[in-house]
Amino acid sequence: MGILTSHMQQLIAGQRLIFAATVCPDGTPNLSPKGTALVWDDDHILFIDLASPGTMRNQASNPAIEPNVVDVFLRKGYRFKG
Ligand SMILES: Cc1cc2nc3c(=O)[nH]c(=O)nc-3n(C[C@H](O)[C@H](O)[C@H](O)COP(=O)(O)O)c2cc1C
Repeated sequence: MGILTSHMQQLIAGQRLIFAATVCPDGTPNLSPKGTALVWDDDHILFIDLASPGTMRNQASNPAIEPNVVDVFLRKGYRFKG
């Protein structure tokens, strides 16, 4: 069994929109929305780099990322550390 439970996967698939936090070289946070989020497999969430130069630059120097997803109607959400 992978990290992503079936409920997590359903919530991501239903929302499609995640917010991805990365770390800038000066240590400050960088948070931006990604509306192309998909579950890749039981351990991975994918988003498409359409216009994310800051996120991609940060990932190249520091792979830490925290995607989070929320269903505002259910008032449920998850934050993931990767
Ligand atoms: C609702 C919404 C969804 C978005 N989805 C994506 C996405 O899936 N992929 C992407 O590259 N940019 C997406 N964007 C655009 C980026 O969030 C935006 O260009 C942002 O400024 C990028 O910041 P960054 O360079 O720090 O990642 C989306 C923007 C909004 C408002």
